[in-house]
Amino acid sequence: MSLKKGRVFSGARPTGRQHLGNYLGAIKNYVALQDEYDCVYCIVDLHALTTLETTLDLRNNTYEMALDWLAAGIRPQESIMFVQSQVPQVTELHTYLSMVTPMGKLTDLPTFKEKVREQPQNVNYGLLGYPVLMAADITLYKSHLVPVGVDQAPHLEFTRETVRSFNYRYNTNVLIEPQMKVTEFPKIIGLDGQQKMSKSLNNHIELASTPEETTQRVMSMVTDPARIRRTDPGNPDVCNVYSMHKVFSSADEVNMVNVECRRAGIGCVDCKKMLARNMNASLAPFRERREEFARNPDGVWDVLHEGAGRARAIAAQTIAEVKAAIGLAE
Ligand code: AMP
Ligand code: TRP
Repeated sequence: MSLKKGRVFSGARPTGRQHLGNYLGAIKNYVALQDEYDCVYCIVDLHALTTLETTLDLRNNTYEMALDWLAAGIRPQESIMFVQSQVPQVTELHTYLSMVTPMGKLTDLPTFKEKVREQPQNVNYGLLGYPVLMAADITLYKSHLVPVGVDQAPHLEFTRETVRSFNYRYNTNVLIEPQMKVTEFPKIIGLDGQQKMSKSLNNHIELASTPEETTQRVMSMVTDPARIRRTDPGNPDVCNVYSMHKVFSSADEVNMVNVECRRAGIGCVDCKKMLARNMNASLAPFRERREEFARNPDGVWDVLHEGAGRARAIAAQTIAEVKAAIGLAE
């Protein structure tokens, strides 16, 4: 019997190498929560099938992402790390949950409307059911806490409502209402200085990129748009380079940038060089660990297969309880 506080679950689509937004918004918490909770982390390849670009290279992207998670500090001896499609019970729970989900709730979700705008040629049934599958992920493992970036808030609220509807409909308390957990950086802005950092917008920095690539990307970051000449004073409050300094630089350096930028004492080029240096220094241990794990690809797949075995045991138990609560034949 575990003495921990409860269970944590999170998932992310296999988009390959993870970026700073994934790390600072979510993975950092995946790692930290292991000390106090039983953690289950899932590479949600079924969710990836809802959009065409994430259906490509699924195996390689799954592997690259697992490498990042391990290098970031997920401890597979304690925590479960697995691939969603290897625990098929989630699709069964998805079906049960879909019966207590009003259509209007799905079509009203801002995340669904955004996808309809982005891919009008591919508004598939799975896309509509995306949040139901996510609710199934979370509830299949009776999770109490879900570490995610703030963009997932509507999905978490949907999950909570679905749990209430299910438990009410079947007069049970078998499903647990989860809480959302964000980091101190719940929404990282991309290199464009405007939109959420994401791979599909190509405004990202990969954790595993080389120091040279990282520096090149940092140098391309958009700064305070009102600061045109080197001699113009800048406003760090509207500059994403400054936001990143707060993550990667020392308190003294952050303070210096804040003061010197406002009086044009430091230019954007020097400011970015300093950021790139600090970012590379901070990512160096991660990159070394990643290279070590990458020397043994079979070991990475073993972690995922073994994780799926442990996940299936929990899933089978929940499904049995759910079927009994609904009153389905044994
Ligand atoms: P995705 O790659 O979109 O499946 O996201 C995986 C996890 O990273 C989710 O918990 C997201 O909320 C989080 N995430 C993705 N992009 C960002 C970002 N720019 N800032 C903060 N969190 C993010
Ligand atoms: N929707 C999440 C994202 O896009 C991925 C996800 C699927 C997830 N199932 C989950 C996150 C369960 C947390 C818990 O990032």
